[in-house]
Amino acid sequence: MAVIEARNVSKMYQTQSAPVIALEDVSLSVERGEFIALVGKSGGGKSTLLNLCGAMDFPTSGEVSIDGQITTRLSDAELTRLRREKVGFIFQSFQLLHTLTAIENVELPLLLAREAKAREIARERLRWVDMSEYEGRYPHQLSGGQQQRVAIARALAHDPKVLLADEPTGNLDTATGDMVLALLSRTAREFGVALMMATHSADSTAIADRVLRLRDGRLEHAAVLR
Ligand SMILES: Nc1ncnc2c1ncn2[C@@H]1O[C@H](COP(=O)(O)OP(=O)(O)OP(=O)(O)O)[C@@H](O)[C@H]1O
Ligand SMILES: [Mg+2]
Repeated sequence: MAVIEARNVSKMYQTQSAPVIALEDVSLSVERGEFIALVGKSGGGKSTLLNLCGAMDFPTSGEVSIDGQITTRLSDAELTRLRREKVGFIFQSFQLLHTLTAIENVELPLLLAREAKAREIARERLRWVDMSEYEGRYPHQLSGGQQQRVAIARALAHDPKVLLADEPTGNLDTATGDMVLALLSRTAREFGVALMMATHSADSTAIADRVLRLRDGRLEHAAVLR
């Protein structure tokens, strides 16, 4: 069974003027350990699709299932649990909490989930991203690449099934971006997560298992298979 499945998904946003069709009849599935790069012009629907695949938002029609659970059929409590237990998000702007140290940032989702071994797991995740020596630093004391590594550790804290990255290298120079991409690729394999990454950078698609292109909300089926 695929970890992420979208079936005939459309998403419409209501605005003051005309409604916006952000996604139109998108179907896809992502397996455990698979690394998907999502490309396409600005406004094509990449972030919208990631949000739907992380149960942060819902399709107007069609269905998204995450690890077998259809997001539109869940109660608020079930959704909170699904997001907390199965989904990790990584952002272009890192989005670490600035009043917390690196290790506290990684630990926070675990504490919220009442994980008894929060500190131990956080330490292990920081080791995975090779940031152990910086665990006591605050985000403003870290470079962009180092902050993104902490953010990856945080997204992996609860051992998610799904990892969603929205332009994770967008604020990094090429060399640092490549390092982050290599880390994401290793993460997909070793943690067995279904990884979907929106990106503008053509370079960053080379490392993915599959490339999907969104144009005006539609998936181009001539996806490149590697
Ligand atoms: N909350 C919203 N309300 C109304 N329209 C929205 C909303 N969010 C996104 N849209 C519209 O939906 C379309 C898809 O947007 P989306 O953010 O998914 O594109 P994107 O591919 O991520 O673009 P970018 O590469 O610039 O990040 C765009 O036309 C956008 O204006
Ligand atoms: Mg976007």
